[in-house]
Amino acid sequence: MTATGVMGECERRLTKHYFELRRLYGELYNGDMRAFDYFCTMLRRTYGERSEELRRTDREREKKPEWYRDRNFTGMTLYAQNFAGTLKGVESKLDYIRECGVDFLHIQPFLASTKGRDDGGYAVSDYRKVNERLGTVGDLESLTKSCHEQGILLSADFVMNHTSEDHPWAKAARAGDPACRSKYFFFDDWEIPNQYEQSLPQVFPTTAPGNFTYLPDCDQVVMTFFYPYQWDLNYRNPMVLNDMTENLLFLANRGMDVLRLDAIPYIWKELGTDCRNRPEVHKLARLLNLACQVVCPGVLLLGEVVMEPEKVAPYFGTPEKPECQILYNVTTMCTTWHTVATRDVGLLRRQAEQLGRLPGNALFQNYLRCHDDIGWGLDYPWLGSRGYEEGAHKKYLNDWFTGVWPGSWSRGELYNDDPRLRDARLCGTTASLVGMESEDPELRRQAIRCDEMLHAWMLTQSGIPVLYSGDEIGQFNDYSYHDDPDKRQDSRYLHRGKFNWELAALRHDPSTLQGELFQALRRMERRRAELEVFRADAVVSAFDTGSDRVLGIRRSLAGQTLTALFNFSEAPQNVGNPAPGGRDALTREEYAAPRLDLPGYGFAWILTEG
Ligand code: GLC
Repeated sequence: MTATGVMGECERRLTKHYFELRRLYGELYNGDMRAFDYFCTMLRRTYGERSEELRRTDREREKKPEWYRDRNFTGMTLYAQNFAGTLKGVESKLDYIRECGVDFLHIQPFLASTKGRDDGGYAVSDYRKVNERLGTVGDLESLTKSCHEQGILLSADFVMNHTSEDHPWAKAARAGDPACRSKYFFFDDWEIPNQYEQSLPQVFPTTAPGNFTYLPDCDQVVMTFFYPYQWDLNYRNPMVLNDMTENLLFLANRGMDVLRLDAIPYIWKELGTDCRNRPEVHKLARLLNLACQVVCPGVLLLGEVVMEPEKVAPYFGTPEKPECQILYNVTTMCTTWHTVATRDVGLLRRQAEQLGRLPGNALFQNYLRCHDDIGWGLDYPWLGSRGYEEGAHKKYLNDWFTGVWPGSWSRGELYNDDPRLRDARLCGTTASLVGMESEDPELRRQAIRCDEMLHAWMLTQSGIPVLYSGDEIGQFNDYSYHDDPDKRQDSRYLHRGKFNWELAALRHDPSTLQGELFQALRRMERRRAELEVFRADAVVSAFDTGSDRVLGIRRSLAGQTLTALFNFSEAPQNVGNPAPGGRDALTREEYAAPRLDLPGYGFAWILTEG
């Protein structure tokens, strides 16, 4: 395309979305048209900086806006430093990632942040620089290029709620610069912060209590919902939106396919509220979506909305006005662990039915574990009707998963235990949580079966399954963080250990734990990738298997039906055959008998045609 033709492309897209952009911007910023003009100029500039190669991909994806729903992606999330030392290291290990069947790779935050005050990278001090311990922007571009050559989509974090206190804006704000102070929430005394606190919950009640931090050097109080060194940005200031959007587009222009909007529910603050999921957040999410439609329509937004179930789905927006294309399926994740501890599939079944009724544009990222803790955001009103009391139940879950409950084989640790609220959350790797650390060979075998069953369940859900790096070889907890002064306060490091390449080398030997798990996962992922019925647009429902211990899910698409059974208990279960005459999708064995036996933690994927 010629230079004018190319800019014409940007203008065409801008014209298409102009009125909506202007209306949303006007609503948020009281019709501040100067700031809006800057926003539009910034979009043109970042479009001008986008490489022709990325623009070509945009054009292809623009022609087929549902492109990402048509493929059965398999995802993985990893820390560059734990997996391979640096970004270059990750690039040199792409063969392994491909061998895992992964074509959607999320690399944990890799931008500049200060050692010891980095919240695992979620405290960014420079949005245009890669953390020097991990490499350079050039290394990042080289990695994205290699990923694209191998058909892998790359996802990166956009940490938008806060910057590090070492970001240049924060430093200038601290030194008294009024323009920079207006990018954060600064207060001369505790009066307003105390008013906010009346209605604000706490994100890190033990590791970082309170939502504000006093800065003695400048005698100011600053808003800090997360760690004291993570200063909340003030999106009521249009320049914050303008500059942060440019930072997001900078990452898009480095070749990211998916941008993870970190902690998005928190970005709009309103005194007297809990400052979560405000209507303005949805306007901002829509604005970001439109900014991408203008500059880089091939790029997707992934919302990190770790909220109670009814707050999550609204972040998809509507089919006509989408916000995030992908969202974390946090509800299913934590309900899955609740089911592991209770062996009662009731809630999981109910939620599978609810998800099946969501509008067609919804696409979830499904997972068992990620870099964060498991918070017990369950449907307590419903659980209450089944005799579970919230406080007692959270205590049971935590006792079970920390191995305190008599007979428990689980080895997790608590996270942000606040005895006042009885609301602790939980950390640990999948393998350790299901009991694989046990010395007892029988329990170990049982744990491997449970681990496989849980992964089969994750792969059965609609959307993009995302493995937590190390889970494919059953990696255990890493207790060494207790000895690291930078990490020991934060038990999430329990499941952020270094990837163990020696154990990974055993993955082809099925007589080892690593080999058995790795091969089983590969078999399932391959089948999932082959079978149409796993596509996101299949019709999904849950059914009663006649056993409280066995979850039953049905997926149907184009004449093919997958009937899946998952035994969430260690005891064998005998259930009626829900798909007589079907064949096992993995072993091809026929299910002819009227009833079938599922071993402890067994599962079945039964295929029927027609
Ligand atoms: C997100 C991240 C988490 C981080 C927090 C603050 O929830 O997943 O790791 O601590 O945001 O940025």
